[in-house]
Amino acid sequence: MARRKKQFKAITGMADILPKEHLIWQKVEKVVTAMANFYDFSKISTPILEEEELFIKGTGQVTDIVEKQMYSFRTKGKEKVVLRPELTPSLIRAYIENGMEVLSKPVKLWSWGPVFRYERPQKGRYRQFHHFDFEIMGDESPVVDALLIQLCCSVLSALNLFEWKLEINSIGCRDCRLYYRRKLKSYYKKRIKQLCPNCRKRIEKNPLRLLDCKEEKCQRVRKSAPQIINLLCESCHKHFYSVLEFLDIMEISYVLNPYLVRGLDYYEKTVFEIIPENKEEARQSALIGGGRYDKLIEELGGKPTPAIGAAGGIERIIEEIKEKKININLKGKSFEAFEKNQKIFLVQLGEMAKKKSLVLIEKFKKAGLKIGQNLGKDNLRIQLHLASKANVKYSLILGQKEALEEKIILRDMETGIQEVFSFKEIIKEMKKRLKD
Ligand code: HAM
Repeated sequence: MARRKKQFKAITGMADILPKEHLIWQKVEKVVTAMANFYDFSKISTPILEEEELFIKGTGQVTDIVEKQMYSFRTKGKEKVVLRPELTPSLIRAYIENGMEVLSKPVKLWSWGPVFRYERPQKGRYRQFHHFDFEIMGDESPVVDALLIQLCCSVLSALNLFEWKLEINSIGCRDCRLYYRRKLKSYYKKRIKQLCPNCRKRIEKNPLRLLDCKEEKCQRVRKSAPQIINLLCESCHKHFYSVLEFLDIMEISYVLNPYLVRGLDYYEKTVFEIIPENKEEARQSALIGGGRYDKLIEELGGKPTPAIGAAGGIERIIEEIKEKKININLKGKSFEAFEKNQKIFLVQLGEMAKKKSLVLIEKFKKAGLKIGQNLGKDNLRIQLHLASKANVKYSLILGQKEALEEKIILRDMETGIQEVFSFKEIIKEMKKRLKD
């Protein structure tokens, strides 16, 4: 009797990307690459296998990822390794290991590739999925938080995805959290009987994660729990409200979610998620998530370096595109221009100029003109030095007076000649000059 041949199948939670699907994957990659280029990120790829300890220290010992979801095993040489469950610790390892700490700050890196988490597979939740990832190392200014969020939103809108909402919160610095954890613990301890078994365990180890619990009874208790936003120290409070102000200026609408803590240990201050609108279980279908992690680089062996980053779930974004039957037409979008070296650098001086710069940058992006900037810096000389290091042809200088008058100084970097243009004229003028 002939033996039946075994039919092999892909491993649970891991899917093939078939040829016809690659068309859409390529478009998403093109958009992510274009946006990363526009904001001057450099691409980096790291190995899929990493030392297990990198994530225990990086992602955090008491996170779901490390406690339950890592594909970890010993190699034949007895090394403890994991299939990376996220990219952030890997990128930091590479940043430190490859001497990138000496580069001028911020260092902006982006990456794209598979990650692995042993979760219960369901729609939008897989065991192998793909991330695009952006990390900005070495800048603590709130304007950088806003720019990163802007970058994430730009990826979605360039893919014609508009039905999403940005949820944002601040979980403060370590000091704020120490105080908050104590308050939270004491609140929940008094109500321990009303909690699910998982949360009862979490009270001691990771009380912030109680805010994340999806169980209805835990969400009822959460309603009157203390909120960290009311307990931030002065500096974290100021940072957060500046981020919100910058978002307002860029007309990025957001929802303050006091319960958003994110499931990874390294975050502090700003945390955010972009979730599809009008979706049940929206929380579990976040398209992009990120936040600040000012202590992680030091904890992984580097110099103290503030940083912020975000990652997008590519499968979820593609599902959203398919579900909404969105037509991604990239024809006519001048993404190629973003691949080239910058020819323009924006220099800004003073608070109002910084704010108006955010709006101008967006206009340049829409016009398909790449424009460099370092909005975290406030000093004219330093910024002009950066502009000449970037070897740009033109600098645009926006001082307090110009910002007030909606005008900008155009400086030819070769001749030193400066002319003044209105905000309305400047894009047209730059297009003309760069064409010549
Ligand atoms: P994360 O929120 O764990 O953040 O993952 C980012 C995105 O990956 C989520 O918003 C979601 O779209 C997608 N995702 C997560 N789990 C799954 C899954 N099981 N199946 C499919 N898609 C999934 C991070 O990983 C951080 N490293 C982000 C970051 C970068 N923070 C700072 N820098």
